[in-house]
Amino acid sequence: MHSRFYLSVMLISALFVMAYLGLTGYHALMPEWKQYQAEFKDTLVKNAKSEAAKKKAMAMPLGFTQVYLSDLKREDRCVNCHAGEDNPLMATAKLPFKQHSGNYLVNHPIDKYGCTVCHEGQSFATNKKEAHGLGHEQTHWDHPLLPLKYAQSACVQCHDIAMLSKNGGEKVAQGEALFKEKGCRGCHKVDGVGGDLGKALDGVGYQPIAYFPMKHVAGEHTVYNWLKQHFDDPRAIVPESAMKVKLTPEEVDLLTTYVLSFRPDEAPRKYRRIDYTSMMAKPDGETLYKMYCVACHADGTKSLYNEVFKRTVPAITNPSFLKTIDDKNLEAIIKEGRTGTQMTAWNKTASGLSDEQVSGLIGYLASKRPAGPMETFGLAAFKGDSKHGSEIYEARCSVCHGKEGKAGEDYLGISLRSPVIQKKIDPEMLAVTIANGRAQTPMPAFVKDTELLTKQDVADVVSFIKEIPVAGK
Ligand code: HEC
Ligand code: HEC
Ligand code: HEC
Ligand code: HEC
Ligand code: HEC
Ligand code: HEC
Repeated sequence: MHSRFYLSVMLISALFVMAYLGLTGYHALMPEWKQYQAEFKDTLVKNAKSEAAKKKAMAMPLGFTQVYLSDLKREDRCVNCHAGEDNPLMATAKLPFKQHSGNYLVNHPIDKYGCTVCHEGQSFATNKKEAHGLGHEQTHWDHPLLPLKYAQSACVQCHDIAMLSKNGGEKVAQGEALFKEKGCRGCHKVDGVGGDLGKALDGVGYQPIAYFPMKHVAGEHTVYNWLKQHFDDPRAIVPESAMKVKLTPEEVDLLTTYVLSFRPDEAPRKYRRIDYTSMMAKPDGETLYKMYCVACHADGTKSLYNEVFKRTVPAITNPSFLKTIDDKNLEAIIKEGRTGTQMTAWNKTASGLSDEQVSGLIGYLASKRPAGPMETFGLAAFKGDSKHGSEIYEARCSVCHGKEGKAGEDYLGISLRSPVIQKKIDPEMLAVTIANGRAQTPMPAFVKDTELLTKQDVADVVSFIKEIPVAGK
């Protein structure tokens, strides 16, 4: 009795072991991609419309396939699973067998372009996890499959925005337009042109994951998630960030698509179709204003206290400002910037803007200046006493401009202590501003209609301002 019991136990166990070995053996022989191919073949047989097509499908061997792309320096193996991408019989099949949507593969045949050139992912992997490259901790892959909504970022390697805006690259083109409108270049250089409060953005869309501080990023730690969440709220990702943007969720995705297109290398020449003449168009003054100034000055009609900078950003299209400053003095301020503040020096060396572009900007500001003569003071008729000026300053001005004239840190005024004010600006301009004030801003008039000060007092305080020691950066 006993021996029979043990015999059956042994038999059953042996069966289990064999079944187990058989299964693992089967899996070793049937890697993940092969299982997809087997399923693909079944679907193809089922979808075949004629007997001949069915026979052909049934005869199809299962085998490893890859597209070798020597110029693009990769071997794409995605087609092992995505086997129906160019097969019209698979138009309605499920993923990964479905035929590719749109005419992306008509314009870019698989054997010349493969898939990763547009989608990213790990070209030589043959299982889904590694091929899609997600889960960086396990796959160690810096450029995982892009979400489809960002896929158009790839097109810019080979095409110009003008062409893409009408031919399947609408999203990346809209992202480029937003990049200009939102004034990103007011703080960032691209191709050597732009402000310097933030870093140059060249190549930033293709940086390795480790480049970005991922601590506060929700979900998968990918470059696109960092960009998206940072554009949504810079301070949620970089707590001390001085970047300030206000974007709708849709704008965030479009900008993410565009910034992902900032890559260090272009595609090989024979893959490029870039019409450089379409990129040579010269932006007019208003467009330049949007690109470089709008991020901080908005439309320039109001004096804005910026919570992040802790400083007032003055109203620069305000008629009452423009009536007191001529183009020459404007040029001095714009080209030199204001040392010790967020106002960049917009000259060729510091910002990359050409003299012609600065003139364009001044032309745009000047177009907002009301017709008629400039406001004048007649400072030449006075001799200033800077000691008396310093007393007036202390009593009347320091409350807004700060004891040392630097403003900032919760003072309402702007800096009077930068080299451009002390060395370049015509003292007449300062005198007019103090006497007449600036309508629509907190800067009061001290002579006109108020007579808080005499004209001699104004001359004295101008002498004092010109003598405050120049600020260092
Ligand atoms: C081992 C099989 C396999 C390989 C290899 C593979 N994929 Fe996939 N892929 C799938 C499957 C299955 C899906 C369906 C969605 C899912 O299960 O994640 C898919 C979905 C996709 C999608 C759609 C994602 C979405 O958001 O809808 C894209 C794009 C894609 N793959 C691209 C690629 C690229 C590019 C490669 C090569 C680097 C690749 N795949 C390699 C199996 C594979
Ligand atoms: C020229 C660029 C380009 C190439 C090359 C390309 N794709 Fe796509 N693919 C796209 C774009 C763009 C989309 C998004 C389409 C949309 O959302 O309208 C897309 C969508 C997809 C999808 C989602 C389903 C669908 O068909 O819309 C899958 C899966 C996919 N591609 C896989 C592949 C595979 C696999 C290859 C290689 C055989 C490949 N793609 C080659 C640009 C490309
Ligand atoms: C690696 C470079 C490369 C990428 C990436 C790429 N293209 Fe192309 N594309 C080309 C080349 C080269 C041609 C011309 C094909 C030919 O003549 O054989 C082309 C052709 C086209 C055409 C046909 C019209 C024409 O100018 O010939 C369209 C439309 C197009 N691409 C759109 C896109 C879009 C949209 C994307 C992004 C989803 C994209 N391309 C991504 C290189 C690229
Ligand atoms: C007021 C100035 C300012 C404006 C305007 C601005 N940024 Fe920034 N940006 C910064 C600063 C400062 C940082 C560094 C701190 C941080 O990462 O948030 C930064 C960081 C970045 C980074 C990360 C760069 C890197 O190499 O780490 C990207 C990408 C970026 N900004 C894109 C944009 C885009 C796109 C816009 C337009 C929507 C924009 N910025 C507008 C100041 C600005
Ligand atoms: C990163 C933010 C930022 C950007 C971008 C910026 N500015 Fe400014 N700008 C400021 C701040 C802040 C001040 C005030 C500085 C101070 O306190 O002295 C200022 C001051 C000025 C002034 C002096 C106004 C006055 O009352 O005398 C002019 C003119 C000016 N900016 C023009 C421009 C132009 C033109 C551009 C675009 C090319 C530009 N700014 C871009 C922040 C910025
Ligand atoms: C209530 C606050 C306040 C007081 C008081 C004040 N200012 Fe101002 N001042 C401002 C603000 C704000 C601006 C910038 C306005 C703008 O264009 O947005 C400014 C601008 C100026 C400018 C123009 C600087 C430039 O670069 O264009 C000068 C000069 C100036 N103030 C001098 C004075 C003097 C001198 C006094 C004292 C007699 C004084 N201010 C008192 C708030 C004040």
